[in-house]
Amino acid sequence: MGDVSGGTVTDGAALGRILPASVVAVEMFGDDPEEATVALMPEEAAHIAGAVQRRRREYACVRHCARKGLAALGLSPVPILSGSRREPLWPAGAVGSMTHCAGYRAAAVARASEVATVGIDAEPHEPLPDGVLSVISRNEERARLDELAAHDPATMWDRLLFSAKESVYKAWYPLARDWLGFEQASIELDPVRRRFSARLLVPGPELDGTRLDGFEGRWLVRDGLLLTAIAVPRAET
Ligand SMILES: CC(C)(COP(=O)(O)OP(=O)(O)OC[C@H]1O[C@@H](n2cnc3c(N)ncnc32)[C@H](O)[C@@H]1OP(=O)(O)O)[C@@H](O)C(=O)NCCC(=O)NCCS
Repeated sequence: MGDVSGGTVTDGAALGRILPASVVAVEMFGDDPEEATVALMPEEAAHIAGAVQRRRREYACVRHCARKGLAALGLSPVPILSGSRREPLWPAGAVGSMTHCAGYRAAAVARASEVATVGIDAEPHEPLPDGVLSVISRNEERARLDELAAHDPATMWDRLLFSAKESVYKAWYPLARDWLGFEQASIELDPVRRRFSARLLVPGPELDGTRLDGFEGRWLVRDGLLLTAIAVPRAET
């Protein structure tokens, strides 16, 4: 993959580091290339026609990344539309997740036979805006953030917690087909292994005959970005 007119498409140089080899990560840094916008498939173009330009571009670029990922899995290009809760509708045989924030768009896709669900999220590595933390966190999570910040004030732990929760929701939704509130999972961030675990505080969905009680994920801070990722492997048969 290579340069695309200003934005750089990579084979997941950053995101790929926090996902297993079974997941294909494709990301785009820099300005949105017009080329990706025109690469929208007709059904997608119709879906996003009424949106503002910024939204049309992120929508197009992230799908450009997703199609590159699907191609790497040997799947033909298809429109990636959205379901009733805005979840991406992946082609049969694939699972995946997408994210976009200023200067970054990424998709992670895998074979459904190998991976049950994926959740990825990117955020600017900046503190959360005032007032957000109390809305998205639980008491015990805020206590843990204070400890983390005391040891490492350079990492934006509040933003990391938020991103981990967004990844949890994106991984949860395709399995549960239901809402999950910020208070319905409790996250622990591991500053040494750069991993996180999410304990579900509501009954989890069943996966391969076992009830899921949480998710394990990884995180990375790089070039002013904070990335979180979850990939749940299928049970060995
Ligand atoms: C859905 C949500 C996670 C998306 O986050 P966002 O801030 O818009 O940011 P991102 O750019 O990282 O992600 C957007 C992408 O998420 C994906 N997405 C949206 N809804 C989704 C869902 N229900 N399931 C899976 N993926 C979803 C889409 O691909 C979307 O991009 P698109 O509209 O271009 O297709 C967020 O808006 C939200 O509703 N959060 C509340 C639920 C939550 O986080 N609970 C915490 C549980 S612990």
